[in-house]
Amino acid sequence: MRALLLALCLAGASAAKLPSYLGPQCSQSAPPAELSACAEQRAKAGLPYLANGDKKLRVPSMRPLVVPKMSLAQGTPQVGLNVTWEPAEIWGLDESRVFNMRMNYAKRTNEFDVIIPRFTLAGLYKSKGRVLLLPVSGNGKSNVTVTNLKVHYKYEFPSRKGADGKEYFDIVNTDIAITGADHMVVDFENIFNGDPVIGRQINVFLNENWRELIREMGPGMAEATGQVVLLVVKGLANHVPVNEMFAP
Ligand SMILES: *[C@@H]1O[C@H](CO)[C@@H](O)[C@H](O)[C@H]1NC(C)=O
Ligand SMILES: *[C@@H]1O[C@H](CO)[C@@H](O)[C@H](O)[C@H]1NC(C)=O
Repeated sequence: MRALLLALCLAGASAAKLPSYLGPQCSQSAPPAELSACAEQRAKAGLPYLANGDKKLRVPSMRPLVVPKMSLAQGTPQVGLNVTWEPAEIWGLDESRVFNMRMNYAKRTNEFDVIIPRFTLAGLYKSKGRVLLLPVSGNGKSNVTVTNLKVHYKYEFPSRKGADGKEYFDIVNTDIAITGADHMVVDFENIFNGDPVIGRQINVFLNENWRELIREMGPGMAEATGQVVLLVVKGLANHVPVNEMFAP
């Protein structure tokens, strides 16, 4: 399974200060538990502001987050599935609740959980392949809405020297997994290329079997949307030097 992301452009570096809504800085030399609590608190306080987008940090608005093109591919060509959203609209990230942060500055690792009370992936989709053994090749409007989506994030943040000679964090070895969901409703218009009756039946079947569906499509969806979220984190990391991000 792999997810591809195309054309979400956050590039272009120029050193920025840590925005005041994410400050004051946490101390990188604090014990891990204290640092984690501080970083979690900053993330909670800063999210509502970041969610509006921040041009200086090249962070796009998350109400919704619009990605020009997002794809996921899983399985083999015979029993696999390819879905592309063009564009993809991701709703609900602005209401994310971050918890369980465990940041270790010495090891440069961080992990945390996020609950998104109402997560929606919408937009025009194109699909080819099978899901739960059903043929689901089609294209049209789509809407995948998950209630209380729980996601675990894990990554490392080594630093490197930027073109301006300052240290910046890199976000690498990311691991994103769906760890829970209370319910999922999907609606794929025209899922059975042009046959509305079968198309409707497939949607009904997918909704009745949402637990299996989330098990099958979840990893690809989590990776694809997780990569989008990480691009936001990377946008921040690419623009705010290490010595602005943390106090000594
Ligand atoms: C998905 O697309 C890739 C190329 O983008 C292709 O190699 C693969 O066979 C496709 N899988 C399905 C199930 O269509
Ligand atoms: C997606 O579907 C839900 C109902 O399941 C609806 O409330 C929501 O407005 C839809 N969102 C979009 C962007 O179509």
